[in-house]
Amino acid sequence: MFTIKETTADSLIALRWQVLRPGHPESAAHFAEDAAEGSVHFAALDTNGAVIGCASVIKKNNALQLRGMATAPEWQGKGVGQAVLVAVQQHAQRCSLPLWCNARVSAVGFYQKSGWHTQGEPFTVAGVGPHYLMRFSSESC
Ligand SMILES: CC(C)(COP(=O)(O)OP(=O)(O)OC[C@H]1O[C@@H](n2cnc3c(N)ncnc32)[C@H](O)[C@@H]1OP(=O)(O)O)[C@@H](O)C(=O)NCCC(=O)NCCS
Repeated sequence: MFTIKETTADSLIALRWQVLRPGHPESAAHFAEDAAEGSVHFAALDTNGAVIGCASVIKKNNALQLRGMATAPEWQGKGVGQAVLVAVQQHAQRCSLPLWCNARVSAVGFYQKSGWHTQGEPFTVAGVGPHYLMRFSSESC
């Protein structure tokens, strides 16, 4: 069992670091826009209140960028990521702003299951690997 709530970036750093930036310094798990106006952070919490899933939404140029999407390894494949993603999508719909992300190629299928679409050719993010630009359209909800 888990719940989804809006939270602070600080509470997500440990999970981001573990899942998204292993082997890098902890500073790599902080995003420059974490505290910027319009940034919103979501956590999935287990019954003990531990953070087991996370995602952040950064407002840029009248659009929302999803960043830091991660599920704790022992919780992957149990619906946590999808529940966090639904919270992100609902936030974008409330804001009436387009939602996009740079998705790891290995995660493209996860986003496609929720109605996201790739755009253009894959590109490499230094130190992380190949990515696709992906967009969510609210019509797919
Ligand atoms: C990608 C990630 C966030 C998915 O979270 P999760 O909690 O495991 O996903 P869920 O259990 O909610 O899966 C929802 C659906 O997507 C599917 N899915 C999950 N990960 C997938 C993947 N990598 N590729 C294709 N489909 C995937 C699941 O099978 C499930 O499908 P179903 O509804 O038909 O059963 C998680 O695996 C993760 O943290 N991966 C490592 C970090 C990462 O790649 N983050 C994304 C950076 S862009």
